[in-house]
Amino acid sequence: MNNTDKKTIFVSDLKETTEEFSSVFKVGVIEPLKTRAGKKFYNILLKDKTGVIKAKLWNDKIELAKGIKINDIVNIEGKTNRYAGTLQIIIKNMSRSDYSNEDDFKILSDKKILQFSAELDSLILDVKNSTLKKILKKFFDNKEIRSRFMSHPAAKSIHHCYMGGLLEHSVSMAKIAKNLSAYYGLDSDLMIAGALLHDIGKLQELTENGEYTREGQLLGHLAIGVAEIEKASRGLGEETPVILHLKHIIASHHGELEWGSIKKPLTAEAELLFNIDYMDSRQSIYKLKNFDLSNARFDNELKTTDKPTSLKSNKAESGSPTLFGDR
Ligand SMILES: [Fe+2]
Ligand SMILES: [Fe+2]
Repeated sequence: MNNTDKKTIFVSDLKETTEEFSSVFKVGVIEPLKTRAGKKFYNILLKDKTGVIKAKLWNDKIELAKGIKINDIVNIEGKTNRYAGTLQIIIKNMSRSDYSNEDDFKILSDKKILQFSAELDSLILDVKNSTLKKILKKFFDNKEIRSRFMSHPAAKSIHHCYMGGLLEHSVSMAKIAKNLSAYYGLDSDLMIAGALLHDIGKLQELTENGEYTREGQLLGHLAIGVAEIEKASRGLGEETPVILHLKHIIASHHGELEWGSIKKPLTAEAELLFNIDYMDSRQSIYKLKNFDLSNARFDNELKTTDKPTSLKSNKAESGSPTLFGDR
């Protein structure tokens, strides 16, 4: 396909069939791996405005991956099949494309991003606690942080793994947090601030392409987030209980230590925020996979956790595919 053609086949159109198809997609993740027998292959995540799909480039075709990088638009010829219950593409041919209609690849329109941004401002207006409000303003009134927050993905792959995903995820969580904190009689200022800032460390953990940075690999966004709150609260007087509580919410928002949490949640607000994060990230995956009950098979659990590739090899090895988004 070239620039004068129109993309007609989208991720949401793909079904399990033996017919070959061709279309253009944006590369989300491209990961060299090895089978147990030592054969090289690539796991590739392909995206367009309707969702994401995994693709495999097998051993006899791996030279096609040469020079292809994240965010490249590629012509794909291939077939679909189902592996462990999940639809995937088996790539027969792949090449870089000069197709340039960016709107076909934007999961969030510019209008939607501006709408979330306005909602973020109105959520900050709802916060009455002056310390929390000042901390929120230090982040979101800072032009550079704000513009990065508006375009950053929330994960390497799957959940909110697209431009504006971090903003959408954080605002969505803050709206839920506001409602549920009223329902349970919890501190809604802390819940809103916790939701808007819980993944702030992702601005350093991931590049704008969704790749892990060295700091992300070595510290992770929870530790980075706590350090950022520390920095932002300097000059606001002594550490008040509310700042400590906000740090605890960030440090514990993955719930379990084996899910990357620094601490388990120890307060009602921290526990609720962990639940909301878990819920919102999983709902995003169903949306992105265009979940359709009539086509779905239920023999595969929905995975949401992701780990940075080990520093030792810098390449994922067989048995450790990381095609799933971190919360
Ligand atoms: Fe997180
Ligand atoms: Fe999150």
